[in-house]
Amino acid sequence: MSQDESITLYNWILQEFTTSRRAEFVNLIAPHIKLFFQPRDHVLDLCCGTGPISFWLEGQGAYVTAIDFAPYMIDLARQEAARLGSAVNFVQADVLSHPLPAEEFDLVVFLGNTVSDFSLQSFRRLSYKVKDALKPNKQFIIHYIDGLYSFIQGNYPKESIQQETPIRITRCFKGYLPETGAYIDVYKNEASGEVYEYTSYLYTPPLVRLAINESFKFEQSIVLTPRSFVDVFVKQ
Ligand SMILES: C[S@@+](CC[C@H](N)C(=O)[O-])C[C@H]1O[C@@H](n2cnc3c(N)ncnc32)[C@H](O)[C@@H]1O
Repeated sequence: MSQDESITLYNWILQEFTTSRRAEFVNLIAPHIKLFFQPRDHVLDLCCGTGPISFWLEGQGAYVTAIDFAPYMIDLARQEAARLGSAVNFVQADVLSHPLPAEEFDLVVFLGNTVSDFSLQSFRRLSYKVKDALKPNKQFIIHYIDGLYSFIQGNYPKESIQQETPIRITRCFKGYLPETGAYIDVYKNEASGEVYEYTSYLYTPPLVRLAINESFKFEQSIVLTPRSFVDVFVKQ
């Protein structure tokens, strides 16, 4: 996708998640995910973005269903699937409302710190949907960044230039809402004046484990980088 003026700021933010840009992340996380499924297993990739993990899972022999609500992401994913001859079932839908088949999946993954797009209530709701969609004794794997890490280290700048050319895009921290744990960044396209408010939610490892519903048992946490974790939960 070219970075011309027609791209919306939301899509511009999502550009970080193209398959080529996610190659390093896939390489980092793949050995940990590999332990939790077999060839021919059915795997659900929640909030798949452009599908980097979905394609890797399929490459390992899994049958993959992948859901994301951003048309831009699913379009890129389907283009890549056509290019690769992939059979991943990419679905454009909101994971909170899209009906999932009961006890269908051998593994559900929710990666790339996507939990920070979900309020605590939404994440909990999602965890109930995942419970219903998973087969018994199967895993739900969540990868996330400790949202407090950058703040505590003092390296979360209040303002930054995200891109200088071809268009200057800036980011400004607008505020934090303690009652929901939400913090808001405002992105601005300085050429067109377009403004996009991006709301994220702060999660820390204990909060992720508290938020998930009781039908999951916490199995283990893998420290992927000093500030990011891969938590493995098993359906009871
Ligand atoms: C941080 S990106 C991660 C993408 C991918 N998992 C990866 O690691 O490359 C988060 C993705 O979640 C999607 N998303 C956020 N909330 C969603 C929802 N309620 N339903 C479906 N997709 C959602 C966004 O469109 C975006 O593509």
